[in-house]
Amino acid sequence: MATTPRATAAQATSTRILTTNHHLIRWVEKMAELTQPAAIHWIDGSEEENDYLCRQLVEAGTFTKLNEELWPGCYYARSSPNDVARVEDRTFICSLSKDNAGPTNNWEDPYVMRKKLKSLFRGSMRGRTMYVLPYSMGPIGSPMSQIGVQLTDSAYAVVNMRIMARIGAPVFAEIDKDVKRVVPCMHSVGAPLAAGQVDVAWPQNDTKYIVHFPETREIWSYGSGYGGNALLGKKCFALRIASNIARDEGWMAEHMLILGVESPTGEKTYVAAAFPSACGKTNFAMMIPPKSFKGWKVWTVGDDIAWIKPDKTGQLRAINPEAGFFGVAPGTSAKTNPNAMKTLSRNTIFTNVALTPEGGVWWEGMTEEPPAECTDWMGQRWTPEIGRATGKPAAHPNGRFTSPVAQCPSMDMEAWESPDGVPISAFLFGGRRASAIPLVFQAFNWSSGVYLGATMGSETTAAAGGALGKVRRDPMAMLPFCGYHMGDYFRHWLRMQRDLSTTPRVFHVNWFLKDEDGNFLWPGYSENMRVLKWIVDRVRGQSQGKETPIGWTPHFEDMDWSGLAMSREEFDRLLKVDRAAWRKEVMGHEELFLLLHDHLPAEMIYERELLICRL
Ligand code: GTP
Ligand code: SPV
Ligand code: MN
Repeated sequence: MATTPRATAAQATSTRILTTNHHLIRWVEKMAELTQPAAIHWIDGSEEENDYLCRQLVEAGTFTKLNEELWPGCYYARSSPNDVARVEDRTFICSLSKDNAGPTNNWEDPYVMRKKLKSLFRGSMRGRTMYVLPYSMGPIGSPMSQIGVQLTDSAYAVVNMRIMARIGAPVFAEIDKDVKRVVPCMHSVGAPLAAGQVDVAWPQNDTKYIVHFPETREIWSYGSGYGGNALLGKKCFALRIASNIARDEGWMAEHMLILGVESPTGEKTYVAAAFPSACGKTNFAMMIPPKSFKGWKVWTVGDDIAWIKPDKTGQLRAINPEAGFFGVAPGTSAKTNPNAMKTLSRNTIFTNVALTPEGGVWWEGMTEEPPAECTDWMGQRWTPEIGRATGKPAAHPNGRFTSPVAQCPSMDMEAWESPDGVPISAFLFGGRRASAIPLVFQAFNWSSGVYLGATMGSETTAAAGGALGKVRRDPMAMLPFCGYHMGDYFRHWLRMQRDLSTTPRVFHVNWFLKDEDGNFLWPGYSENMRVLKWIVDRVRGQSQGKETPIGWTPHFEDMDWSGLAMSREEFDRLLKVDRAAWRKEVMGHEELFLLLHDHLPAEMIYERELLICRL
C-alpha cells in the first residue's frame, strides 16, 4: 500500500485523498483530530485493496482463511461473546424533541448525547487506522439512491461493507459532483491501542452506543463491530435515517424483501414483504417453487430492505438499496434454501458459525449429520456429544454470512440494477406466531391493510433481547428501525395512498403455526409458493376469496395442492379464524395504541372498531 505521510492535526499518515470535496476533507480532518488514529486510509474499493485488508485481518487473527478448494475466497470470523447482535437497548434516536422519537425509541437530548459521544470518541482510534469509506445505497447515480461516508477503525466493517453496498472510487466521483447530500457516519469499536499494546482478534467495548440524529442526518456508532451496529449503511442509514428522509420527501424506507413471481406465461408480479428479523425474509426472497409448479419462477430483488416511491403515473416502485446479503446462517441448507447455499459457496465472510477441521464452516441445520468435531463460535472444541451434554449449539443462532447479491442464482440482476426499481403489486406482512394468526389473509382495503401491518406481532428472536418466544408488537417489522414516532409513521403510510393511482393489495402470512406438541403445522419454505400463487392470483383478480371478520382467506379449492398431501381438515386448521383468540389479539392492539395514542391516526381507531364489530 502506497502511503503518503500527511501532517494533519492528528499526525496521522494518510493514503491518497480521493475526493475534491472540501467539506468532506475538512470533516475527515476534524474527526481524525477527535479520534487520533495512527493512519488514515481512503477506500478506493479495488480488489487489491480488499486483498490487502483481508491479509491484515488474517494477521490480526480476526479472519481465518477457509480452505480455498472447498470455500474459494471465503473468510471466517468469530466475534467477542459480548458483540453478537444488534443492541436495541443501546440504540438511540436523538431528535430535537423527545416527542418526535416517540415511545418506541430510546431518546436522549442531542446536546447531551453529542457531548457524551465526543468524550467516547476522543482518542478512540489511537493505534488504529481510520478508513474513509464512501458508499452508495442503491445504484450509483440512481435518483432513488443515497450516499454515506463511514469513518471506521474496523477493517472488518470495511470488507463487509464492500459486499453489502456499492463503495469506493465511483462513489467519491459521485460525491465530487456535489449534487446529493452525504450522510456522515462515525464508527469506532472503542478499543484504542496504547504504544506496543497487542490487539485482540475482535476489538469492541462493553459500552455501546448506536446513535442517530434525524434532523442533521448523522450516525454515530460506538463499541460494536457486529452487523447492523457496524455496517452503517444497513439499518442505521437505509432504515432509521432513510425513514426520516422518506417521510419528508414522500417515499418509504421499509424492512422488506422484494421478489418477482414469474408465471408460466411469463408475466412478472413483484411483491414486497415485511417480516421481523430472523423470520424468513431471506428464505422467502430466494424461494424455489415446488416441482409441481411447472413454469413458475421466483426472482430475488432484495432480502432485507426496500426503498419505495411512487413514479409519475402513481405506481409504487421499489429498489433494494443493498448489494449483498447479511443472512442468518443456522437453518440454511440445501433443503431449506438451495439458492442461499449457492450464493454463500464463495467470496463470503462467515461470522460466528462453527469451523471444521478441514477449513470449512458448519452450522445447525446445514446438514442432518453434524461434523464429528469442530470448533464452535466461541473457539471451543465441539462435538455432537458435547453439544448434547451442554445444550450449546456450535454456531451462534445469529451467526451470519455476508455474500454478494450477484452470486445468487435467482437474482433478478436487471431489476436489482434498475435505477427506477420494480413495480410493487402487493405488500405482505408476517411474523412468527404459533397460534391465532391464519396462514394467509388479505386486508379489505388500504387502510385496513395499514392497520394489519401496524398491529402485527411476532415471537421475539436474538436481536431483541429479553425473553425468547414472547409476542411483541412489531409494526411493519419496523419497531427497531423506524427513526421517528411510530404513530406518525402509520400516518405516513395512510397518506402515501394519496399519490397512488393503484394501491398495492395488502396480505398477512404466517408460516409458523404450531400444534399442541410444538410441531409446525405448515411445511413452509418452498411450499410457501402455494400461498404466494394465491396472492398473485388475487392481485390479478383471478381468484375468489372467502370473507371472514379479519379479511379475505382462500377456499381450499382456490389453492394449488398438486404434489402436497393436504386434507381439508388440515387446511381448515391453518386458515381458521378463531374469534376468541382474535378478541385477545385486539387487546394486544389496544396496548400498542395506548402507547402511541397522542400521535395515532384516527383511521387506526376506526379500523379497530370495525374489526371488533365484525368479530
Ligand atoms: P434478518 O436478516 O434478521 O432480517 O432475517 P430474515 O427475515 O431474512 O430471516 P431468514 O430468512 O434468515 O430466516 C431465519 C429463520 O427462519 C431460519 O432459522 C429459517 O430456518 C426460518 N424460516 C424461514 N422460512 C421458514 C418457513 O417457511 N417455515 C419455518 N418453519 N421456518 C422458516
Ligand atoms: C436484522 O436484525 O434485521 C438484520 C441483521 O438484518 S443486522 O444487519 O445485524 O441488523
Ligand atoms: Mn433485517
